[in-house]
Amino acid sequence: MYVHEGKGRIESIFGELSFYPGDYLVIPIGTTYRVLLETKEARFLVVESNSAIVPPKRYRNEHGQLLEHSPYCERDFRTPEKLEPKNEKGEYEVRVRAQGMLTSYLFDFHPLDVVGWDGYLFPYAFSIHDFEPITGRVHQPPPVHQTFEAHNYVVCSFVPRLFDYHPQAIPAPYVHSNVDSDEVLYYADGDFMSRRGIKEASITLHPSGLAHGPHPGKMEESIGKKETGELAVMIDTFRPLKVVKQACKYEDPDYMYSWLPKNEGNKH
Ligand SMILES: [Fe+2]
Repeated sequence: MYVHEGKGRIESIFGELSFYPGDYLVIPIGTTYRVLLETKEARFLVVESNSAIVPPKRYRNEHGQLLEHSPYCERDFRTPEKLEPKNEKGEYEVRVRAQGMLTSYLFDFHPLDVVGWDGYLFPYAFSIHDFEPITGRVHQPPPVHQTFEAHNYVVCSFVPRLFDYHPQAIPAPYVHSNVDSDEVLYYADGDFMSRRGIKEASITLHPSGLAHGPHPGKMEESIGKKETGELAVMIDTFRPLKVVKQACKYEDPDYMYSWLPKNEGNKH
């Protein structure tokens, strides 16, 4: 879960894990947990997976430790802080999702009644604000933003950073075809350098194979810019994504026209 807005804690069989805006919360499969909010409202980007969500292999050495060139290290991970056994009796519902179905289980004891645990499986938090951006003289390819990987998809972080510093660099990304993946971007904060017509909490989906690039004018606009304050989370999937019917009512039918020059009836 990416915490866009809101504060609180994840209560699980491993204890309590506090979270703040900008946190990624990695909760392993099979963890009994609940989200307790300390703010009235919150906004999460939730990514679920049948496989483990882990730091990319190329950031780790043969022993699994994060390497020096990795954009984060073990010190940046926050693990559950507090574990208090809960031995109340009553009726407690636990919802289990399996085979695409949610099933309710009713327990007559508190499902988080645990006195301790050991091992290397536990939920953890990693703040996007601790992601050290990788920059260069010329434009760096998207994998430099990679934060996590799972079976068939990756999660990337676009964070405030210095732009390419070659004297003739054009900081806006190049036009490209994402032939291998569908691209989903969630815009959390700041001005997104390559896009028009998006705002905070917008989600874009660029299906694979569609050549795309900066919006008209954005390439020229980027020349001479030194840095960006953008904050966004990208999910690249290596299998086609299917949009559910319920999402269609949130679609901005004009988004595709935002690539037209501004004077051709483009509202963005
Ligand atoms: Fe793209």
